[in-house]
Amino acid sequence: MLNAQAGRPFSYKAEGLCCDQAPLAELAQRWGTPLYVYSWPSIAGRFQAMQQAAEQHLDGADFSLCFAVKANSNLEILRRLAALGAGFDIVSGGELERVRLAAPEGLGRVVYSGVGKTAAEMDAALRADILLFNVESEAELELLASRAKTLRQTARFALRVNPNVEAKTHPYIATGLARHKFGIPISGARALYAKARKLPSLRAAAVSVHIGSQIRETAPFASAVAQAARLAMQLIRDGDAIQYIDAGGGLAVDYGLARPFDAQKVAARYMRAVAQAALNGTGNGPPLHWLFEPGRFLAAHSGCLLCRVLLTKKNGRRNFAVVDAGMNDLLRPALYGARHAIVAVNPRNGRQRYDVVGPVCETADVFASGVELGTVQAGDLLAILDTGAYGMTLASNYNARPRAAEVLVEGKRAKLVRRRETASDLVRAEMLD
Ligand code: LLP
Repeated sequence: MLNAQAGRPFSYKAEGLCCDQAPLAELAQRWGTPLYVYSWPSIAGRFQAMQQAAEQHLDGADFSLCFAVKANSNLEILRRLAALGAGFDIVSGGELERVRLAAPEGLGRVVYSGVGKTAAEMDAALRADILLFNVESEAELELLASRAKTLRQTARFALRVNPNVEAKTHPYIATGLARHKFGIPISGARALYAKARKLPSLRAAAVSVHIGSQIRETAPFASAVAQAARLAMQLIRDGDAIQYIDAGGGLAVDYGLARPFDAQKVAARYMRAVAQAALNGTGNGPPLHWLFEPGRFLAAHSGCLLCRVLLTKKNGRRNFAVVDAGMNDLLRPALYGARHAIVAVNPRNGRQRYDVVGPVCETADVFASGVELGTVQAGDLLAILDTGAYGMTLASNYNARPRAAEVLVEGKRAKLVRRRETASDLVRAEMLD
């Protein structure tokens, strides 16, 4: 089922599978494969859906949506999101540079998370005057205080608290349990805020939580937010000028095509749960400004990885379709056992099942097993769906494979927003005696 109700920008028209109105076969012809193809209207639509849900359900509170750059860091996409008013959640100096290049006006809306920030990264972020540092340990708090003092700045910070909440997601992307490396145990947070109060180069501005990614149920979010809100109220009583609650990211999308995905409904359900939890946590305390860090929810459904079948082969009873994209281009199936729907761009008749695999020399280089595709021949195009988030950003050069190109579609128009890497790009940083 690929139609408007599916909540994706991909649908079949006379020319085969299209992204918005742009036939994927034409894009492949023009820019080659493997090719990441994204729909800008789809990303913008998701941003607006989340915005609307926040407007409707947060009781008039201020809020900012800070796109998680790690989900999709293409400069043109960041630039366009900033133009819609987005802020950014970053986790490295490299991501800070991306925001600076794409949208310098967005630097003031950056929140900086991550368990291991270097002094140089902190300095760059302090000089850029970002909105907020999400601090994840006492040692980091001390380093931030000393860097800010040296640069004669005041660092606005939140402690990212670990609320010990089970996120019910893949263990690799759950972050909110006490045994995880992320955050500061919420029980010890108040004492650390008290310590920071004595350091003039620090200003506590927020409480932050992020409990993981691809979280379907609202209960874990509600529990985390209620705890963060309660702490915020306590800190205000303690004398901190807390203005923000950063609720993190984590909202799940569907990867299968079995049922329609109603983004408005999903966003509304999430915001209602957050608002209710905050009320439980704060009673009628002062209104706080919400920060959200969505990544996947904004970008995943907007993109596909377009690849070409190199050949088909049969080993024993398995039919393989070997494609020109590999696990270096899309790691999610190999790393998390993620299941992405795969469809033919110009389906042929017949019913055949294939294991769709890449050319990389790893047994894990399998995109999906037993996919029903109709008959597939060498030269056919396949689209691996829902790869707009954590697709290209997780890509590598393993097997000395140049990374794919990226194309951004808007209606009928398509624009190359990252060229394909070349073999010489791959060796540019190396030296031979
Ligand atoms: N904020 C922080 C501090 C994060 O660590 C993350 C994601 C987000 C926000 C955005 O979460 P989202 O809204 O996208 O769920 N590579 C994995 C996902 C890793 C998520 C890491 N942190 C995947 O492909 O499923």
